[in-house]
Amino acid sequence: MKKLPDHLEFMVSETYRYFSHSPLREQKYASLYSTINVGEQPLQILQLSGRRWLAIAQCVSRILEQYDEFKLHFEISDDYTGYALSNFCIPRHYEGDLENVLIPWGLIQDRTERLARDIFHEIKDEPLTALCVLKGGYRFYTDLLDKLTTLNRFHASVSVPLHVDFIRLKSYENDDSTGKIRVIGGDNLNNLRNRNVLVVEDIIDTGRTMERLLAILKEHEPKSVKVASLLVKRRPDSTGYRPDYCGFEVPDRFVVGYALDYNEYFRDLNHICVINDSGKEKYKIPL
Ligand code: HPA
Ligand code: MG
Repeated sequence: MKKLPDHLEFMVSETYRYFSHSPLREQKYASLYSTINVGEQPLQILQLSGRRWLAIAQCVSRILEQYDEFKLHFEISDDYTGYALSNFCIPRHYEGDLENVLIPWGLIQDRTERLARDIFHEIKDEPLTALCVLKGGYRFYTDLLDKLTTLNRFHASVSVPLHVDFIRLKSYENDDSTGKIRVIGGDNLNNLRNRNVLVVEDIIDTGRTMERLLAILKEHEPKSVKVASLLVKRRPDSTGYRPDYCGFEVPDRFVVGYALDYNEYFRDLNHICVINDSGKEKYKIPL
């Protein structure tokens, strides 16, 4: 067994009892260092940010996200009003169609750099197939891979050999109620057999699409599958699905830009912005 860290904090048992009834799903904001058994009770030793360690009863880890101090992800709160459009360069053709800049392009870059580092350190020395979910994921995908390849160049002793692949997802037409999806494009998915796959997606909305995609990928027997999503939307009807790597958790607003679209518009906008009512009206598909 691994040596236990010197500074170990323990979650109190009251908290454990309370949260043992929590319906929240397993969520991951800290890395698991080791699991030990104390009597009947499995304890997980977690490594948090800032050189903090925590011993925690298994089911309590599901609710870590409720505590701000444990949040290792980047949350944009519901009352955050973003930046004024006038502070940034917005293409003239979209000037009247947006409410605010929610995430400027530069911040996306900085956050993506950190995600790349996390991925690099978790997957190092194993070949990785980075699977881009088109079209919305293409800008995040290219920036993430750029940063991964930079890490590969700068680290002499470790590297992540990368393969690239692309898929598009299509809903079954006239059958929306089943919500089934079909994978189109990309290489034969059988090529994923025995590979470590990193699915790169723009946004997790309800989580249903990603859960279905993961079920499809599993049929092709990859060695492992992880998901990096630039955005996760806080939706009341979320399935509870969380990606392994998340750029920003955002409010339940319709966002566009940085390859995210509204009816194929706004992919050519650098920043992630909230669309306004007149933008929705202007680019809606006439019935
Ligand atoms: N923007 C673009 N595409 C999306 C969104 C969004 O907010 N939610 C689900 N798909
Ligand atoms: Mg998408």
